Amino acid sequence: MDADKLFELANQAATKSYSPYSRFRVGAALLCEDGSVVTGANIENRSFGLTICAERSAIVSALSQGKTRFSALAIACPDASYPVSPCGACRQFLSEFVAPDFPVRFGGATGGVVDTTMGTLMPFDALHELSTHDAD
Ligand code: THU
Repeated sequence: MDADKLFELANQAATKSYSPYSRFRVGAALLCEDGSVVTGANIENRSFGLTICAERSAIVSALSQGKTRFSALAIACPDASYPVSPCGACRQFLSEFVAPDFPVRFGGATGGVVDTTMGTLMPFDALHELSTHDAD
């Protein structure tokens, strides 16, 4: 699947966002190595700190389905006029399950998209020697 299609699926996933507090919808589409796509959306809570970002929703959903190997991630923020990159917590979370060359695309409603990698998003990754996940 090409990056444009994956990004389109991320935009569709954003329609499932539960974000009454921020009014900021985010969707994520995770391409799995088996060719399937697992999506996620941000899910907020009235106890604000419990909010789960779209990226973590997608990863946890995929892992819960037994999908452990991933090829690419797209993140779409239809309420933003610029490409919104994954938050620090999501970078750390994602890094547990993918390699530094893992492709990530993110974009808003306008402002184009950014194509980057896990390693660029999180340089000087620490504690990778403790990870038990075989991403390679
Ligand atoms: N959010 C995400 O889901 N992913 C990101 O990469 C950035 C932030 C969500 C969290 C919260 O529901 C809303 O966007 C505003 O921060």
